Amino acid sequence: MSSSHSSHPEDEETAGLLSGSGPERKNARNKLLAIILGAITISLIVIGLTAIWADPNGFGPTSETFAREYYQYVNDLKYDYMTPLDEILVGSSRTRSSDSLITDSAAGATAFSCGIKTYNGAIGVDPNKSPCGTILEAAKAIGLITGLVVTSRITHATPASFSAHVVSREMEDVIASQQIGNYPLGKQVDLMFGGGKCFFLPNTSSESCRPDQRNLLQEAEEEGFKNLLTRNEFDALDTSSVKRN
Ligand SMILES: *[C@@H]1O[C@H](CO)[C@@H](O)[C@H](O)[C@H]1NC(C)=O
Repeated sequence: MSSSHSSHPEDEETAGLLSGSGPERKNARNKLLAIILGAITISLIVIGLTAIWADPNGFGPTSETFAREYYQYVNDLKYDYMTPLDEILVGSSRTRSSDSLITDSAAGATAFSCGIKTYNGAIGVDPNKSPCGTILEAAKAIGLITGLVVTSRITHATPASFSAHVVSREMEDVIASQQIGNYPLGKQVDLMFGGGKCFFLPNTSSESCRPDQRNLLQEAEEEGFKNLLTRNEFDALDTSSVKRN
């Protein structure tokens, strides 16, 4: 799905959080709601010490029903068979964004990460394009180790909405830069598994899709990341020194 953020006229809203009238107040209320949702999440995280967020982008009750009925049928299971997902499902979201009946991955994931409705294409920003605090940042703030594991590009809208703040999902070169720690909060993600290497390579490389010469793989090393680019490097990773919660 592609972004439709360009239909959004308002730009660079930098009004104070709690001052001002109308939209700003609403904005402040949204932020407060996000903080409350964040606090609830944090409480759960503190109790359990480990929290895994499974974000099945584009997957709804219909898909789950289809899978359940199919699995029950072909395996000759009882009528009340429940899938593993049925047992761990803790919630769902109404998928409409602030500017469209049909949400996109960006607004859909920002609803999950920040607890607010925003416009299609928004990555970790509210409808006024102000950054919103994410669950991942909240987890980091209380000292947990954080990670993103995806089957898409790591800079794709869904993981980006937890780990970056940009006005458009198309800005994957900026998202990559923020994910390795180039934004006011510094490095928030400790581990990232996914695709999208081209956004980490300087434009001097033929594999690059960056508009500049920044080498984010090298910058990531400087931020303390270890880059594993092949299966062999992955298998050879020494995890004995990894700090655990
Ligand atoms: C590569 O990036 C530099 C800036 O870092 C820019 O001046 C140059 O035009 C870019 N080259 C290409 C081919 O995009």
